[in-house]
Amino acid sequence: MKIAPSILAADLARLADDVARVAPYVDFLHVDVMDGHFVPNLSFGMPVIAALRRTTSLEFDCHLMVTNPIALFEPLREAGADLVTVHIEVHPDPRGAAAAARSAGLRFGLVLNPATPFGAVAPFVELCDQLLVMAVVPGFGGQRFIPEVLPKVEAARKFIDSSGIHADIEIDGGVTPETARLARDAGANAFVAGTAIFGSDDPVAAVGRLRDAVNGKA
Ligand code: DX5
Ligand code: ZN
Repeated sequence: MKIAPSILAADLARLADDVARVAPYVDFLHVDVMDGHFVPNLSFGMPVIAALRRTTSLEFDCHLMVTNPIALFEPLREAGADLVTVHIEVHPDPRGAAAAARSAGLRFGLVLNPATPFGAVAPFVELCDQLLVMAVVPGFGGQRFIPEVLPKVEAARKFIDSSGIHADIEIDGGVTPETARLARDAGANAFVAGTAIFGSDDPVAAVGRLRDAVNGKA
């Protein structure tokens, strides 16, 4: 079970400090890149990622909420990204995107919006290191978890296990100890949390509560 804080909810004026505080307790960082076009919000890009890269050795899982992800692969790799996820809604046939990510030296994953069925990614899961299931409509932190996505997590877990594919199933949006447990029961093994971690008075304790929840200790 992997826990990944989403830096979107960090204090961006103190980003390195916020990340350093939780770094010993988490598995990687989730980095939400938004273009104000695929989603109605802007977040951060290469300059911020490169600056953060100089302060931490945690892997960067870059969730690309952009309409032109392939053009960003090389500069993101340069900036220090480790894995990129591309929305299937942007590239319904993502084979070219997967190949471009690998040749840029990046691991690759696909993302599904809440309304997109698992069938859209099923033929391409074998290309993935990670399958990211959105539990909110992407664009903003602090939204409520949509439980209707849980059957999709179950379908993904069944498909991945029965095909012998090694891909993480990551859930993103509205993740709290309670919703993380539901996602874990459905088959997720990686949990992104922004507000639940950085919105907490004690982010380290918040990571601990999430970890206990997904490990069945709470
Ligand atoms: C939403 C982003 C999420 C977001 C999660 O578009 O993809 O990663 O940061 O934030 P919380 O955990 O606050 O829902
Ligand atoms: Zn995200």
